[in-house]
Amino acid sequence: MRPGNRSRTSDWVAALRALYSEAPPDLALFDDAVAERLLPPGLGALVRGAARAPFGARLAHRLIGSATRGLSYGVPLRTAAIDQAVVRAVDSGIRQLVVLGAGLDARAWRMPALSPVTVFELDHPDTQGFKRDGIGELRPLAKEVRFCSIDFERQTLPEVLAQHDFDPQAPSVWVWEGVTMYLTAEAIEATLDAVAELSAASSCLCMTYLPREYASPWLRTVGEVGAMWIGEALRFQEDPHEIAARLEQRCFEVEQDDSAVEWAERWPEREARRVRPFERLTVARRVAG
Ligand SMILES: C[S@@+](CC[C@H](N)C(=O)[O-])C[C@H]1O[C@@H](n2cnc3c(N)ncnc32)[C@H](O)[C@@H]1O
Repeated sequence: MRPGNRSRTSDWVAALRALYSEAPPDLALFDDAVAERLLPPGLGALVRGAARAPFGARLAHRLIGSATRGLSYGVPLRTAAIDQAVVRAVDSGIRQLVVLGAGLDARAWRMPALSPVTVFELDHPDTQGFKRDGIGELRPLAKEVRFCSIDFERQTLPEVLAQHDFDPQAPSVWVWEGVTMYLTAEAIEATLDAVAELSAASSCLCMTYLPREYASPWLRTVGEVGAMWIGEALRFQEDPHEIAARLEQRCFEVEQDDSAVEWAERWPEREARRVRPFERLTVARRVAG
């Protein structure tokens, strides 16, 4: 990401989360009232208008879903699937959450389960500055939030987390949501090395990724053009066995690897059948410290 050029992809992702927070009960997956206040004014007004009009959220769900061939459904569904994994990690006693490329992620302000947890939000200073303006004085539900600004192209995770009193001897849950597809394989390797170095035994990594054949060639081209339009290039795709191998090399054992098709089991059948398995979520546990 170029300096002075904050991420626009995080705006679109947060807009979808804001929309689904206002969705009818059969579609709603979480309450992310914070997402709306983080949006740039134009996008915020659009989401408010859609969400508050009669049947607006359902209509927007259908229209955006049809226009994106089901891609948009994956965003709220993956967020809910990661929320579940984070709650399981906290229930198992983990007290540090690191959000890599946090964007406008609002878990620290919306998840009561994080009340005993210190959250480390890592993102580019330009995106993080915009988010901090939107958050203002809003108190987190997490025990504490530490904003750790980082440029992944110039700084390393260990050096930045050390400046914020991260404890590598205590287990952590790492969330890497909707980021890997924009990185090079070298950046993925370097980040996984750093995560492994900083992960005590029982730490948990939740990462989403695109499999190689995530869509038809035509739809992949549309996806690549769409990503470039919002300022990113789609670079990284790998299949589940390749991701598992990368993780196993670093003493992480895969506990879950699934796609939007499985996450959509929480939706009624008529909605779930529109979902396509573009993105996947791996949840892996560190078996050695
Ligand atoms: C797709 S967005 C984030 C999505 C977010 N995890 C979510 O689900 O809402 C990708 C994030 O990576 C961050 N990012 C991109 N390049 C970066 C860099 N060189 N250093 C730090 N952060 C970067 C962007 O600022 C952005 O917040």
